[in-house]
Amino acid sequence: MIAYLETAQQFQINTPHTTYALAVADGYLMHIYFGKRLAVQDLTDLLRLNESPYTPTVNLREKAFFFDTYPAEYPTGGTGDYREAAFGIETADGFRACELHYVEHRIFKGKPLFSEMPHTFGDNAETLEITLRDAPTDVTVFLSYTVFDDSDVIIRSVKVRNSGKKAIKLTRVLSASLDMDNDRLEMLTLYGSWARERQIDRVPLRHGKQRIDSLRGESSHQYSPFFALVSPETNEQSGAAYGFTLIYSGNFFAQAELTQHCQTRIQIGINPDDFSWELQADAEFQAPEAVMVYSDNGLGEMSRCFHKLFDHHLIRSVWRDKIRPVLINNWEATYFHFDETKLLQIAEQAADLGIELFVMDDGWFGHRDSDDSSLGDWFPDKRKFPNGIHAFAEKISVLGMQFGLWFEPEMVSPDSDLFRAHPDWAIQIPSRELSLCRAQFVLDFSRKEVRDAIWAQMQDIIESTHLSYIKWDMNRQLTELGSAALPAHRQQELAHRYVLGVYDLMERLVTTYPQILLENCSGGGARFDAGMLYYSPQIWASDNTDARDRLRIQHGATMFLPPSAVGAHISVCPNHATGRTTPFDTRAAVAMSGTFGYELDVTRLTDDEKSRIPAQIECYRRFSPLVRNGLQYRLGDPFSPSKTAAQAQNGWDAWLFVAEDGAEALFTYVQISAEANMRSRRILLAGLEPESVYRYEIDGNTQEKTGAYLMQCGLLMRNLFGDMQSVQIHLIRQ
Ligand code: DGJ
Repeated sequence: MIAYLETAQQFQINTPHTTYALAVADGYLMHIYFGKRLAVQDLTDLLRLNESPYTPTVNLREKAFFFDTYPAEYPTGGTGDYREAAFGIETADGFRACELHYVEHRIFKGKPLFSEMPHTFGDNAETLEITLRDAPTDVTVFLSYTVFDDSDVIIRSVKVRNSGKKAIKLTRVLSASLDMDNDRLEMLTLYGSWARERQIDRVPLRHGKQRIDSLRGESSHQYSPFFALVSPETNEQSGAAYGFTLIYSGNFFAQAELTQHCQTRIQIGINPDDFSWELQADAEFQAPEAVMVYSDNGLGEMSRCFHKLFDHHLIRSVWRDKIRPVLINNWEATYFHFDETKLLQIAEQAADLGIELFVMDDGWFGHRDSDDSSLGDWFPDKRKFPNGIHAFAEKISVLGMQFGLWFEPEMVSPDSDLFRAHPDWAIQIPSRELSLCRAQFVLDFSRKEVRDAIWAQMQDIIESTHLSYIKWDMNRQLTELGSAALPAHRQQELAHRYVLGVYDLMERLVTTYPQILLENCSGGGARFDAGMLYYSPQIWASDNTDARDRLRIQHGATMFLPPSAVGAHISVCPNHATGRTTPFDTRAAVAMSGTFGYELDVTRLTDDEKSRIPAQIECYRRFSPLVRNGLQYRLGDPFSPSKTAAQAQNGWDAWLFVAEDGAEALFTYVQISAEANMRSRRILLAGLEPESVYRYEIDGNTQEKTGAYLMQCGLLMRNLFGDMQSVQIHLIRQ
């Protein structure tokens, strides 16, 4: 998979369909090529070494010019490259210039695994590690490139070692940087807000820097740590798409910079703002992994490459390969207003309808009747559970259901025993007023004693209730970054140390209780990132459960994370976030394209709605393996609804899950907006075997058609009356 051309000093990294190439020239590491697979060959020409300003050994006079134009693989600043640097240091004397030279490389089977951070894994990996060094400071940088023989992705990571005698400060350590030779690219990013996560933005690159980032201490609702660079003609099925994401859950930085010579410098990593790291002599720093994908078959294939990688090489949970229990969560049913009696009514009814897991959300602990108190006091509220929470868990178990609980481990309420005992455990800057957000503060998870105290409380509850499921929430962003445990010159380490602390506690949870299904959540989808997938196989995608809005949120979410990770529930209508009413079965079809569950008071449903639940559950159980393991094809564009009757062909969304062995497929269609006097919509399928014949039911009739017919002629969607009507069609290869 990885070849080294000794004479040309070139590295060629091959995945099944793509190639990534690098070269050492004049002692500098240069980027040559990223794209469709090439046979191993000398690519020196692409470096343009025979054009001015020439390498320093040819023309030392123009060294700084050379630096500002060469296609750098891991650029530094201060010696002539005025584009964005990937790596920065500050010496004990306060100097910042740095210049990395190639030292050596090795190619080996396997890949680096990190003890403190999420990372990809797998036996079928090969890695290229290139060592670079800045001679005056004796700082060594190790760039790693890993490929798996079953995935069209390249995993990059960076490790820094201080081989000198004095401590230095790292001011930035991005995980990936590359200079591509392409000037017509467009940048696709996911932006959003609470309850409106992962909307799609796509704009042509202009000269200058186009950045998305987070400084919120989490990957954020506002921007996802993912972006794609695409050709103007790229769509779901065709065209070039380069995708980048970071296996990290904190402050990130992702940027494309179109430079004076129309090169594009692409970068992703920990946000250099609010970051620095003191590196003692002989110490090492590890940056998170970045994932790079190239597809010449559009955005759909790019996404499927990410999905497959994360499914096979990142998600560890035993639940990855199992049908997850159908759950009912009481948040939208009761919010904070419940007691044992109320919840048991919901649970009894839910159990009768075939729901398997009862999840008690926020409000079961301390004296929490609103979001004003008790975070940090993880013991049951005696007013709501007079006999304790284990007794309630026992009653749920008698109903034949599993039991799950909500925690927000990283937070503390000012009105809590924990905060009264340890006010310094909150992240804060002395003598500066600490900002409240949702009436709570953030615990300083960089401190082990803080994590230990929370862990001890969680373990008590987990063991006394025999928990099957945990929803780990995080409902505010970080402010007033300061830790009582760090000296002044290391305060800028806090944001990263905080994330490492979160990972530490999650690691304890998933290794001590591997059978627990962990669902990550952050006020909806503020930590919907690949880092979290290493711990939780599913992530609550948004507090917005409106099926119409979910089409967009889930379309955006699956740009880089697998559908099996998208937490999705059926809730009541009018929807609590939008006031919109959508058909019950469409809500099910949309939720079924993620993890599936109910988030409502089942005792208040109509008889008609209740009667549909057993069939919905059966359908979920039947199709769950296909959603989890199949290949997803997004067929529609929920971001372009019809505005006029003439545009009505746009007022729909559809997607398809195709089994990896091609034996079956599940097609889902949603008519977003109905139009009067319109003909049927013709939807072209994708991903089927052209020669194979598929049997399916449509409009009450059984049909058999070839894959070619279904992909070229399509299915006619007709007889749907009203907005948000849906159809699900199961296609079985004959
Ligand atoms: C935010 C989550 O996204 C919701 O699902 C719910 O758990 C609330 N927090 C509880 O406070």
